[in-house]
Amino acid sequence: MASDHLVCVVLAAGKGTRMKSRQPKVLHEVAGRSMLGHVLDSLQALDPARIVVVVGPDMPETAAAAAPHPCVVQAEQLGTGHAVLTAAEALADIDRDGDLLVVFGDTPLITVATLKRLVAARAAQPAPALVALAFRAADPAPYGRMLLDDSGRLTGVVEAVDADAAQRRIDLCNAGVMLAERRCLFDLLAKVGKDNAKGEYYLPDVYRLAYQAGLHGSVVEASEAEVQGVNTQAELAVVEAEMQTRLRAAAMAGGVTLIDPAAVWFSHDTALAPGVLVEPNVVFAPGVSVGEGARIRAFSHLEGARIGAGATVGPYARLRPGTELSEGAKVGNFVEVKNARLGKGAKANHLTYLGDAEIGPEANVGAGTITCNYDGFTKSRTEIGAGAFIGSNTALVAPVKVGAGAIVGAGSTITRDVPEDALAVERNDQQNRQGRAKRYRELKQKTGKADGEPKAKDG
Ligand code: UD1
Ligand code: CA
Repeated sequence: MASDHLVCVVLAAGKGTRMKSRQPKVLHEVAGRSMLGHVLDSLQALDPARIVVVVGPDMPETAAAAAPHPCVVQAEQLGTGHAVLTAAEALADIDRDGDLLVVFGDTPLITVATLKRLVAARAAQPAPALVALAFRAADPAPYGRMLLDDSGRLTGVVEAVDADAAQRRIDLCNAGVMLAERRCLFDLLAKVGKDNAKGEYYLPDVYRLAYQAGLHGSVVEASEAEVQGVNTQAELAVVEAEMQTRLRAAAMAGGVTLIDPAAVWFSHDTALAPGVLVEPNVVFAPGVSVGEGARIRAFSHLEGARIGAGATVGPYARLRPGTELSEGAKVGNFVEVKNARLGKGAKANHLTYLGDAEIGPEANVGAGTITCNYDGFTKSRTEIGAGAFIGSNTALVAPVKVGAGAIVGAGSTITRDVPEDALAVERNDQQNRQGRAKRYRELKQKTGKADGEPKAKDG
């Protein structure tokens, strides 16, 4: 097949009113990426000459999400057949001898493997002019049914609303995906009418027209889970669950240990090296990579973070975009990191905020340390040198630098740079009042009140 002439059309003009959301339906996310993004990504794997997205009027966000792929606006939603016809204008400059693949923007679980099976079916001899993707539905009620003749040839598709009782018993359903010889498809589409229950131009009508014209149509089957479309929030959750199942399986197949797979949430791009261990209740938002042998402990949330080999994160850590942990670094419980790099073996084990910071190798950041990176107007950076030790409850008021090997005493508010190997302490001198604690206790026992407090009134 001349795959250099393959073009793809993604139907996404529907408003998705049943989602009851302001956002266009195909922009709802699955595993941290829009449904449209998933579909475009899968299509890209076929290396088509062009992908055209059919959008409705007033859908600038959808068009932006489709970029750099061109969009055409279907002003009125007159049906799936009409939607494909609308795309013709955006394909006029590409050789018509190739194939056209139609997919829906709200069906994000479709796999590259399945799309390739359609391509392979088109290459069979004799080559079918059209290849339909179908599935066996547990409940076929809402779907178009595949009509086959006695020899198993596809004679057409009947929409649920147009089906008679016998046709409604068919469980082989139309998934909506179609691969067709492009010239032939547009010729057939020109003949599709709207004399049906919905008064729409149905794309699947071309199967009947093809059969009547003596053209061969073939059927490729996929699992129902793979072709699950999203019309409601509940269906979005079903699709999310299926995507998570796939991502978990892929991670484990790649040598990652998930103690409780169902309790780990991935993004489409989460990249975990072999030997990574993930404890339960971890969320990977987009943009995370984790190096070999690292351990991500329970209840951690990671986004836009690069975790080096052998690093430890959590439990209860929050890594925000721009986090980089070098080999063997440790970020412990209730530590938040944003736009900060921890060098090899550096540690921030407890209750700390590191934002806009550079922490040198083997540095130790004590419990409760805060980088004060924001003054209400601008963000500033904190630098901590190699091997430095930051005592507990230190406030580092950025911009500020702590030199390599320096020590900062606990409870300090550091506003000026600390030179290399210096000891910086910033706090009031401590006063010890001899015997005062004992006196306090004795007084309390006698009167029920401590020294300095008003005495209880008589009566
Ligand atoms: C369609 C199929 C049906 C199949 C089912 C699988 C038709 C007529 N029916 O039905 O056989 O079993 O999918 O889920 O094709 N769209 C446009 N412009 C339009 C109409 C639709 O872009 O004018 C887009 C929608 O946004 C959606 C997709 O096409 O992404 C499918 O349209 P929808 O109305 O949901 O078709 P179904 O009734 O589900
Ligand atoms: Ca649908």
